[in-house]
Amino acid sequence: MIYNLNMQRQLKIMFVCLGNICRSPMAEFIMKDKIRERGLAKRVQVFSCATSYSENGNPVYPPAVSKLKKEGVTIYPHASVTIEKEDYDKYDMFIAMEKRNIERMMLKFGNDPDNKVSRLLDYSDNPRDIADPWYNDDFDTCYKDIVEGVDALIDYIIQNRL
Ligand code: 4NP
Repeated sequence: MIYNLNMQRQLKIMFVCLGNICRSPMAEFIMKDKIRERGLAKRVQVFSCATSYSENGNPVYPPAVSKLKKEGVTIYPHASVTIEKEDYDKYDMFIAMEKRNIERMMLKFGNDPDNKVSRLLDYSDNPRDIADPWYNDDFDTCYKDIVEGVDALIDYIIQNRL
């Protein structure tokens, strides 16, 4: 936990997917808009990263950008980065898009002594993986899943972490 200049706690949240060009940046951008709308922007910082190195430096996948724009979500400059072991101490929560991301993260971290690692839709009433749009181009379902998860995550954070 770090503190800003007003000595308020700031929660640092890292969204994690395989490539950091579709699901985790979508979650990052959607969450940034929602925390701003709910007056939490000074209390919560949001980031995203990959478990793989395959997309390093790449921007958000264009169909994902199109979907976000269509939904009125703010788009930020982006370059895919990969999670590293040292990141464990730098963030408060690592929110995976799917179970596989947790397995890959744990290979890096070794263990999770502070219970920082979880899956986005485990905060919802219907725990499951976020739909992966990579092989079917279904960004509508992916977007809906992420909104469901982010809304549930924000409720959890307000009730338990701020
Ligand atoms: P993301 O999507 O993990 O949501 O960023 C993918 C990006 C790249 C690949 C798979 C999924 N890939 O196989 O290269």
